[in-house]
Amino acid sequence: MPVKLRAKNIFKLFNEAEGDTVARLKRGESKEEIFRATGATVGINDVSFDVHEGEIFVIMGLSGSGKSTLVRTLNGLIAPTSGEIWVDEDDVASCGAERLREVRRRKIAMVFQHFALFPHKTVADNVAFGLKVKGMPRAERRAAALKALAQVGLEAHADSYPSQLSGGMQQRVGLARGLATGPEILLMDEPFGALDPLIRREMQDELVVLQKKLKKTIIFITHDLNEALLLGDRIAIMKDGAFVQVGTAQDIVANPADDYVRAFVANIDRSRVFSAADVALKPASVPIDATLAQAFQAMKDAGSGAAHVLRDGEVAGIVTWRGISEAGPTQTVQDVMVTDAPVVDESALLHEMYDAAQTGLPVGVTDGDGTLVGVVPPEAIFAQLAAGEPEAAPTTEDAPSALPAPS
Ligand SMILES: Nc1ncnc2c1ncn2[C@@H]1O[C@H](COP(=O)(O)OP(=O)(O)OP(=O)(O)O)[C@@H](O)[C@H]1O
Ligand SMILES: [Mg+2]
Repeated sequence: MPVKLRAKNIFKLFNEAEGDTVARLKRGESKEEIFRATGATVGINDVSFDVHEGEIFVIMGLSGSGKSTLVRTLNGLIAPTSGEIWVDEDDVASCGAERLREVRRRKIAMVFQHFALFPHKTVADNVAFGLKVKGMPRAERRAAALKALAQVGLEAHADSYPSQLSGGMQQRVGLARGLATGPEILLMDEPFGALDPLIRREMQDELVVLQKKLKKTIIFITHDLNEALLLGDRIAIMKDGAFVQVGTAQDIVANPADDYVRAFVANIDRSRVFSAADVALKPASVPIDATLAQAFQAMKDAGSGAAHVLRDGEVAGIVTWRGISEAGPTQTVQDVMVTDAPVVDESALLHEMYDAAQTGLPVGVTDGDGTLVGVVPPEAIFAQLAAGEPEAAPTTEDAPSALPAPS
């Protein structure tokens, strides 16, 4: 996907009297040391990143790490001390006020944690407020507001007042207000931060579903790593104004860059981060007309205790080492295979594979066409479900003990 927003070497310094803060940072002085020595606060320290069209880019970090400052520089609410912020062909850090207004009007919307809904305006009028400010005629405003409300599932509440809605619904109104102007980029600063945990989970799931349709470029701020992992196509972890790591959820959980990231990662639910494809091993397989000897050889070659049986390229069953060793001399693969072999799509998350693992059989992993692309031993799934085990991919040494590998 093409780059929609590109930030290059952004610095933001507050209360800088001396003009030597960047030099101090380059010498390796910390934010804290610089503040004590000079009174300057490092808001953003040399941050560069690209966000691609249609991507959800999450910025996560502790309070005071610089998330809000960064996101405000992206839509020109705050001018960076230095650096470039390209939105398509405009650098919002250096373009004139007129041009900046145009970029903000046409391309960028912001959704906050504490967006104020006007209590005496209806939901639709709240959503249309930004359009009124832009001088859009009344009927057009109403139509745009209803369309945005439909996107967040609230069209039936268009003429309600904010006080008649739950917290989660009010937050959706805030989102609809962001969507009403038809922005290409949505900046969301802790939009779900004030919601209670259950509603928050619902909103996260809804945003994932909504984004599948909208395909906006979204920059989402949170200090909740689980939220970041769930929503982010990529996640940037911020500390003292700098990015300490940028990567996919799997990158960050499997290889935290330092102790700061490791501390965040320690308590997350790995079974919601890793998918079947992430932990799958090379499968052993044989065609349905294979002999038992051929099945045995396939298992041996793959170092596996079982082999999937394929009919026309699709999984028809599974034969195990034990099944073969107990078979009579005239029996075939078709006679000894177990036909209800557990199979999941490669995108299935490990926590969704619990039932499949319960069968005790290696779980087949298939791609969108139903082709067998991997296998996951049930033990590997249970190990990941038993919280916090820092093991990303099981090795063949972890092969299921119930199904001894052929020697
Ligand atoms: N207007 C300002 N003047 C001086 N310092 C500021 C200003 N705005 C932010 N800062 C400082 O910049 C740093 C980054 O603040 P920022 O609000 O961006 O953090 P944050 O990651 O959004 O935190 P939170 O999770 O609490 O919202 C902090 O040290 C903060 O004190
Ligand atoms: Mg903030």
